[in-house]
Amino acid sequence: MNEIGLEEIKGLTFDSFMGNMSYYVEKFLSDGVLFLKNFNPTRQQEWDIMVEFGNRINWFPNSTTGIVPTGPYECKELEDHRYTFEAHTDTVNDKDHYFIHWHLDGVDRDKPQMGSLWHMRQFDCAPDSGQTGFVNMGYFYENLSEDYKNFLLSCGVKRHYRLDVTGFDYNLTDQQIKDSSPMALIVDHHFTDKKILRMDFYINESSLHSFNGRPATEEEKLKYTYIHADIINQFCNDSSISKWIEWEKGDVIITDLFVMAHAVKGGFKLGERKFSRIWAYKEEYIPFNR
Ligand SMILES: [Fe+2]
Repeated sequence: MNEIGLEEIKGLTFDSFMGNMSYYVEKFLSDGVLFLKNFNPTRQQEWDIMVEFGNRINWFPNSTTGIVPTGPYECKELEDHRYTFEAHTDTVNDKDHYFIHWHLDGVDRDKPQMGSLWHMRQFDCAPDSGQTGFVNMGYFYENLSEDYKNFLLSCGVKRHYRLDVTGFDYNLTDQQIKDSSPMALIVDHHFTDKKILRMDFYINESSLHSFNGRPATEEEKLKYTYIHADIINQFCNDSSISKWIEWEKGDVIITDLFVMAHAVKGGFKLGERKFSRIWAYKEEYIPFNR
């Protein structure tokens, strides 16, 4: 088992996956992501997998949610990144440039998504386009210098997120900018107790709010800004910290979204690349409950 995980799991059937669920749940918690090559589940099978994970690691959906795919966990429409295309009309779209930059889903939320299943149902673009990259923020934190680790452990931050006029917190609109509640930057994982660096990248921004539970000094704010920039620089320039997958139709990725920072490269057009998705949450989902 390596630190980044993401080995291709090939030749798996739905029944063999469900029959070895203890092994796969343990691997998921250790690696942060499972990459099931050419798995091709039905919608019902996607649901059954996420429910069984929920039964074992206490996320929703689980068996209390119901036996058929249910919104808002399951997205009925396939994700084609339509909104990202609309927001990125002026940027280079090729396989070597970021289409969606590094981020942790819901990092500004008190109740973020904890996991997801993505199933690539249509992939009509070049094989090396639209790659998804991952960094495990538990291992990344563990490997930082002691100075960085000790400093970040004391940081409380506020995230700045954007709301559109309907109150839907779609990050790429710019109608209003709100502050999240103060949050620790290093958070124990809900399922493993491992320390996770819940880092903001580009989609959200943050500022240092407190240090060791008291208001942060100007010096500490400057140090936070410096470390933040240094870490982003590492993500963009040190290819050894991330791992990228090449998608094919039928591939499935189950991701621990609390842990895995991710990004997407371009090189595909709207409508060429579409996937189904199920979200998982630590608590039963209530729409618009941050
Ligand atoms: Fe994401």
